[in-house]
Amino acid sequence: MTDAAKTVAIAADHAGYALKDQLRAVIEAQGLAVLDLGTNGPDRVDYPDFGHAVAQAIRDGRASRGLVVCGTGIGISIAVNRHRGARAALCHDVTTARLSRQHNDANVLALGARIIGFETARDCLAVFLSTDYEGGRHGDRIAKLDASTA
Ligand code: RB5
Repeated sequence: MTDAAKTVAIAADHAGYALKDQLRAVIEAQGLAVLDLGTNGPDRVDYPDFGHAVAQAIRDGRASRGLVVCGTGIGISIAVNRHRGARAALCHDVTTARLSRQHNDANVLALGARIIGFETARDCLAVFLSTDYEGGRHGDRIAKLDASTA
């Protein structure tokens, strides 16, 4: 496995940075490296900048997976999904986290720090990182996702 394949790019805005930092240990416990793209404090920032940064890290091969966190997870997931090849899934429970991998081959997990608690976030991330894409019938659908992204 290459270094990029073992690396998870993480980023958050001011509403999500504390949860992002708490979740580093979940990533490292699975033997994966963390590429932290900020933000790292409470000063107000704009979530698109951090969603774009994670998508770019995946596109240019610095990471194979991503974790993004904002207040709801909505804005930062929209930013990630503007990029071809990036598939961000906004998850609130373990079932959606699992299915985002099995059916959608999601490569970025988006979480809402003001919506779910730490334990749910931790469980979503652990399942997201340990679940494989099923392939098969889902392949043509995944290919169609990139038809309208730049
Ligand atoms: C920041 O106040 C908040 O709008 C942001 O974290 C996020 O929830 C946007 O989708």
